[in-house]
Amino acid sequence: MRKQIVAGNWKMNNDLAQTEALISALKNQTKTTDAEVMIAPTATNLWQAYNALKGTQIEVIAQNMHFAENGAYTGEISASMLKSIGVNTVILGHSERREYFNETDELLAKKVDAALAKGMRVIFCFGEELADRKAGKEEAVVGSQIKNALFHLNAAAFQNIVLAYEPVWAIGTGETASPEQAQDMHAFIRATLADKYGNDIADEVSILYGGSVKPANAEEIFSKPDVDGGLIGGAALNADDFFAIVNAF
Ligand code: 13P
Repeated sequence: MRKQIVAGNWKMNNDLAQTEALISALKNQTKTTDAEVMIAPTATNLWQAYNALKGTQIEVIAQNMHFAENGAYTGEISASMLKSIGVNTVILGHSERREYFNETDELLAKKVDAALAKGMRVIFCFGEELADRKAGKEEAVVGSQIKNALFHLNAAAFQNIVLAYEPVWAIGTGETASPEQAQDMHAFIRATLADKYGNDIADEVSILYGGSVKPANAEEIFSKPDVDGGLIGGAALNADDFFAIVNAF
């Protein structure tokens, strides 16, 4: 059975005091589902968050990392550095990284390799822009993002890959893909995986939806058969809202 996952991507929000306050509020929440719960605070607060949440139901994960082991990459953080503070999962390929930091499929393939080589789990993000969808090219775009960054991997690697479909037009806009649009794309993604790796692998990979998931729409989106959870931005910054989404399965 593939896992249900709800991950909160805090993006560049919350300083140390705000991180501590939100974590306290999260610790007061009760999980009523089997979903795995993760939060991705900003890099400066990962260690604090890890310690505050050790032994709880919430895993602390990173928003990004560099592909190199170490060296002259000013400002960057490696997989080993994340591992050394207890962080074993990393989000890669978020559309904001692609858009503002020029991350390409080719670069992301190297990051994925580096994370997997260290035994980390990767939440790999991709999704089309509005113009792509208007032109009817959403499947072509998503298919090529997945193939370019992931299809050099062997089948076993997918045990440590979670996919996150995040249509760019639905991120932070309040506009969400309809449950049917999400289901259609997730089914396409799973079929794309099955073509390359077979049904057994495709059936085991969790595919999350991200883009304006809120307590009010989570249940309907998560009810779709190929939607295995969510990557949550804005609503993850409020403990009540985030757990309402966690408990929406
Ligand atoms: P919002 O939930 O704010 O639309 O953000 C989604 C997202 O980008 C999660 O990574």
